[in-house]
Amino acid sequence: MYYGEEIIKFQNVGMRYGLGPEILHDISLKLEEGSFHFLTGDSGAGKSSLLRLMYLAHRPSRGLISLFGKDIATTPRHILPKLRRMMGVVFQDFKLIDHLTTLENVALPLQIEGASENEIKSKASELLDWVGLSKQLSILPRLLSGGQKQRVAIARAVVSRPKLILADEPTGNVDYHIAKRLMYLFEELNKNGTTILLATHNKTLLTDFPKPILQLRNGSLSLATISNHQTEPLRT
Ligand SMILES: Nc1ncnc2c1ncn2[C@@H]1O[C@H](COP(=O)(O)OP(=O)(O)OP(=O)(O)O)[C@@H](O)[C@H]1O
Ligand SMILES: [Mg+2]
Repeated sequence: MYYGEEIIKFQNVGMRYGLGPEILHDISLKLEEGSFHFLTGDSGAGKSSLLRLMYLAHRPSRGLISLFGKDIATTPRHILPKLRRMMGVVFQDFKLIDHLTTLENVALPLQIEGASENEIKSKASELLDWVGLSKQLSILPRLLSGGQKQRVAIARAVVSRPKLILADEPTGNVDYHIAKRLMYLFEELNKNGTTILLATHNKTLLTDFPKPILQLRNGSLSLATISNHQTEPLRT
């Protein structure tokens, strides 16, 4: 894969839940390797739904989606989990595994990859240290605060250095100084080539970390600028 290659490409994608109304219409976008975008929009605008299409938890009702250069509609089903493993996802509701400790939750992606016990322990604990949870390594998720769970979820999403990180409101439950620290972590990963899409409606974050902003409004996507809050159609 060369720099500038499309990691995600959507062409006229529509999405609905079951037989309900279409909630995303004609979404066309390209995310190139190494890019860092924010995804914003009011509550209910469809940010989590758009991310769900990207991490293959939901099928589009129309249009084309390519991930890592592969059209997902024609890619053999057994290849899809491989594409999914190239992504790190921070879920809005964390999705930590209740019966595993903080360290075990973060270790999971490395275990799936077959990393050695030593490597797993050192990488997982290094990241948990970075997100400020070195004292909570052996604690179960139910004993953590919302912001602590969120930081475990972030550490788990990035620990295996995925090519693509999809983060759904990853700083929604933490104080702003922790949010900034987490943003530095995402920026560091991005400097090393990881493509990042981060959904947020935190305006301060959008202002303090200038990145291109994709905005969802009424089910459609446009490119927004923070300075004048204007939007323009996406060129794809
Ligand atoms: N599982 C579901 N079944 C049916 N409709 C859903 C489901 N999940 C979301 N929706 C609907 O899809 C629309 C978009 O919801 P979504 O969760 O993607 O918004 P969001 O931008 O992530 O909002 P928030 O900022 O509150 O997280 C909403 O109208 C919502 O009611
Ligand atoms: Mg959401």
